[in-house]
Amino acid sequence: MTPSLRDADPGLQNEMGSVSEAVNKTIGLLLPKTDLAEMRLFEAMRHSTLGGGKRLRPFLVMHSAALFNVDPARARRVSAALEFIHCYSLIHDDLPAMDNAALRRGKPTVHRQFDEATAILAGDALLTLAFEVLSEPETHEDPHVRCELIKTLAVSAGSQGMVGGQMLDLIAEEEEFDLGTISRMQRMKTGKLMAFACEAGAILGKTDGPHRKALCNYAFDLGLAFQVTDDILDVEADPQDTGKDTKKDKQAGKATFVSAMGKKQAKERAEMLVEQAIKHLRIFDGREKHLVDLALYVLERRA
Ligand code: IPE
Ligand code: IPE
Ligand code: MG
Ligand code: MG
Ligand code: MG
Repeated sequence: MTPSLRDADPGLQNEMGSVSEAVNKTIGLLLPKTDLAEMRLFEAMRHSTLGGGKRLRPFLVMHSAALFNVDPARARRVSAALEFIHCYSLIHDDLPAMDNAALRRGKPTVHRQFDEATAILAGDALLTLAFEVLSEPETHEDPHVRCELIKTLAVSAGSQGMVGGQMLDLIAEEEEFDLGTISRMQRMKTGKLMAFACEAGAILGKTDGPHRKALCNYAFDLGLAFQVTDDILDVEADPQDTGKDTKKDKQAGKATFVSAMGKKQAKERAEMLVEQAIKHLRIFDGREKHLVDLALYVLERRA
């Protein structure tokens, strides 16, 4: 039976905390730290990747990997790589040429704290570092698995995924999009990296077939629901809660579910998507609790 949408487990907060702690350690070890002349770049990378963020994508990697009994040390490296891509996407998303945001994770955005050129370079460096990490044998001893992780992440992050979605997001400031195109845009800009997070567990566990497919379907619906709730929070929440600028989408002419169907219907759509996401997990026969809890959290989150 589908759990009630009001049943989010209080233990989830603890579990999110332990995932964050473990992944932060891995991120800290993987980031460059020297006092060379280019240290400004390393500081900008640290500013972006440490000390904030809900670490939802790492949570999805860790718990999808656990379903296939993957060594958590490997899953932590994949989580760190994905978080590097996510942070790069946020640095560039915040730039004046894109969303022109001042606040991120409760701190000044990278271009405000440093400068625009450093922000562009820090994003570039995090993007490439992600693939460096995935290519290393510590991520998985089988080179075929490493190649599959690299390929899947490249497709999810690139022109057919996050970057393509960001292009649509900017075009939508000038053009009217129908609901179908808005859904496609959200699934690309946000859903694809979430889908990678879940699929990575199956790739590390060398699993193909219905279990992998079920995780992809779950992530596909969850990713869209997540962006819908992000768009609702932009309208409803304050920067003290979200740690980032709010009330900007309308003024920028962004195409969102809120702009297309209003807040009430957007909330209903998010609920429906989360319910649907949870149904895909039934194949795991009761081992999917953490992923169910996370889906419920996506609906109730205030940050
Ligand atoms: C923000 O993602 C960007 C979107 C895809 C909406 P998150 O809300 O996961 O950001 P952090 O990582 O917690 O800061
Ligand atoms: C950004 O979407 C999604 C990315 C790919 C970075 P938003 O522009 O809505 O994300 P926030 O609200 O700035 O976090
Ligand atoms: Mg944006
Ligand atoms: Mg933005
Ligand atoms: Mg937003």
